[in-house]
Amino acid sequence: MRLFLISCFLITLTGCSASESTSDAAVSTAEYAVAMPDEFGAQVALDVMQEGGNAVDAAIAAQFTLAVTYPEAGNIGGGGFMTLYFDQQTDFLDYREMAPALANRDMYLDDKGEVHPTESLYGAKASGIPGTVAGMWAAHQKYGKLPWSRLVQPAVTYAEQGFVVPAKLADRVSRYLKRIKERGRQTNFANYFGPAATAGALFIQPELAATLKRIRDHGPQGFYAGETADFIVSYMQANGGLISHEDLSKYQAKWRDPIHFNWRGYEIVTAPPPSSGGIAVAQWLGMVDEVIKTNVLPAYNSAPYLHLVSEAGKRVFADRAEYLGDPDFYNVPQARLIAPDYIARRASEVNLTAISPTPEVKPGLIESEDTTHFSIVDKWGNAVSNTTTINLSFGAGVVAEGAGFLLNDEMDDFSAKPGVPNFFGAIGGEANAIAPYKRMLSSMTPTIVLEDDKVKLVTGSPGGTTIISSVTLSILNTLLFDKSAEEAVNNPRFHHQLWPKDTIRVHEGFSEQPLTALEKMGYVIDRDRFGDLHLILQQNGKLSAASEANGRGKAVVKSAP
Ligand code: DON
Repeated sequence: MRLFLISCFLITLTGCSASESTSDAAVSTAEYAVAMPDEFGAQVALDVMQEGGNAVDAAIAAQFTLAVTYPEAGNIGGGGFMTLYFDQQTDFLDYREMAPALANRDMYLDDKGEVHPTESLYGAKASGIPGTVAGMWAAHQKYGKLPWSRLVQPAVTYAEQGFVVPAKLADRVSRYLKRIKERGRQTNFANYFGPAATAGALFIQPELAATLKRIRDHGPQGFYAGETADFIVSYMQANGGLISHEDLSKYQAKWRDPIHFNWRGYEIVTAPPPSSGGIAVAQWLGMVDEVIKTNVLPAYNSAPYLHLVSEAGKRVFADRAEYLGDPDFYNVPQARLIAPDYIARRASEVNLTAISPTPEVKPGLIESEDTTHFSIVDKWGNAVSNTTTINLSFGAGVVAEGAGFLLNDEMDDFSAKPGVPNFFGAIGGEANAIAPYKRMLSSMTPTIVLEDDKVKLVTGSPGGTTIISSVTLSILNTLLFDKSAEEAVNNPRFHHQLWPKDTIRVHEGFSEQPLTALEKMGYVIDRDRFGDLHLILQQNGKLSAASEANGRGKAVVKSAP
């Protein structure tokens, strides 16, 4: 047993989705805001900013805290992307996992050449080299104001002294335990998290606390070398994993140029490859805008609106499968994919009255459940949009023994075999084939929208390929349909990704009329919720923040002291 649970009274978070505005314009006009996946992350980020820390400091502290209190996605064993707007400059940090040196293109194929159904999802062989600690360190070196140890400490405290398990976390743990049992992929997950299924218990993680102390005191060396590295590598060696000491020592987070594009007068700053998200959102929003230049904008969430967005989505995902992968390994034709004339051509293929036949929607350049996201704005107007993941809930379901943290199953985001869908139904080929030290293609799309050089919107979500829809719709909801932050995250959303054929995945909450009309057109309606948006919106100089009511998020706006 590596954790201790003491039953205590459950403090539930009620109304956690509501934006709790404590702002008072009479006292101060400067505000800061967070939209976080849980109350612990929210409090830690607010405390840091209250103490004079900036949005990046708050992000680092929140990232480490979520590794303790939001173990299904918050992590030090995974990776992520951070989009920044700092001192009026944009920036992008890629701390995505990399394939280990021993990885190879066919590593998940059996002797018949078929993709193994679970090896890239559960167990030590599913993990890429974690990037989070290197990423947070790089962010701190470039932008941090408060000391590193101050930012890691809250996570140490939560791991060492415990936190009260929210009912929604307990529920996810018990569902995950059931799932790995059903799939015959039991790991050491139950030893660490099993007892946490008791909602209201105090959950203490001593091994994780010790690892976080090494990170607090020695920075990345406390993770990629020394005792933590030894724990990771021995666990890998004993359990068929591939990550070596050399892999850990070679990991590097990278600063990249974010994608910028103009949309209806806004400047949108978002994730470049190895994310597919930024290119996809640019194409998706661009196609919708092209179509409504010459056609009436369909009513919000009507059948014609869902059809229009899905038609555009078909083309987005056809391009994603063909052209996108790690730009350090594959020449991604980024500029051509987001060029306005290309987007206009793709928009002209959209059929407004019928479904384009799926096999005919080709990549256009041919010549002829768990990740988490948070958004932060500080009193200086800097913004951080950060999406982080260990891929599915609880990652590979394995804890690096001795080090106490969950490892990712990000290897499933590679294309294990051309044309064979991964967990999220995404297909791919050469661009996203497995290779040593390559980064697997992602859909994470942390995004910042600027208006006249000021932050207008900070948005992002988990959800695999549905992230791209959640982010696109959050922009359409707020900036095209004038929805509030609260409405933008809680109104029902929908998603279409080319395959499965003509299937639109929908949240509950749509009226039956548009769904029946879409079924009559030939669409299959798949009622299956996705995503968890955390969004900050600025209107007339005032911030509003919202986290989806379905999750356990907390969004707060405060007046600067
Ligand atoms: O990087 C990606 O696109 C995926 N690994 C994200 C996974 C995810 O969002 C799971 N959440 N529900």
